[in-house]
Amino acid sequence: MILKYLSLVSLVVLYSLMFIGGYVSAAGLGLSCPDWPLCPSGIFPTEKYLIEWIHRFVAAITGALIVATAIGSWLAKGSDKKIKITGTLAAIFVITQISLGALVIDLKLHAVLVAVHLGIGILLFAMVLLTTLFAFRLGKKAIQAKI
Ligand code: HEM
Repeated sequence: MILKYLSLVSLVVLYSLMFIGGYVSAAGLGLSCPDWPLCPSGIFPTEKYLIEWIHRFVAAITGALIVATAIGSWLAKGSDKKIKITGTLAAIFVITQISLGALVIDLKLHAVLVAVHLGIGILLFAMVLLTTLFAFRLGKKAIQAKI
């Protein structure tokens, strides 16, 4: 079942993104790329913008994966209310998080916004984790139903 693997890949990529975000913050690189959505170097990064560029690039991939997982949670055979709720909340959180990322840059790393960025990141991780657990349970239910 594709939803299982889609949600698992989303979870792993999201975890890596949060790790990179922590590095951006701790290394003081938050404003190394001052424009949004692209860095001053354009589509591709130069060495100066590389880490922050990677954070944004992986955020774009994460967004696409999580929205695809949410769509999958509605379309999957036998999907229940729980997976639809967590999948949809994850999609809402990821869109909010990416928009908030732009605001974090625009408002020059305002402390409250950076804290909210971390807080939403944790909620997002929780929703993707639950969606993954529910997706693996759906797979099991389908096998049991066949027996
Ligand atoms: C799914 C999308 C995203 C997730 C899950 C995410 C997650 C994180 C996390 C966990 C941190 C570390 C926060 C901390 O240690 O306090 C962080 C830092 C940061 N993120 Fe994101 N992020 C996302 C998207 C974005 C986007 C799209 C941008 C900008 C366009 C952005 C800009 C930043 C910046 C500038 C920091 C460093 C803040 C600082 O210097 O303290 N993020 N992100």
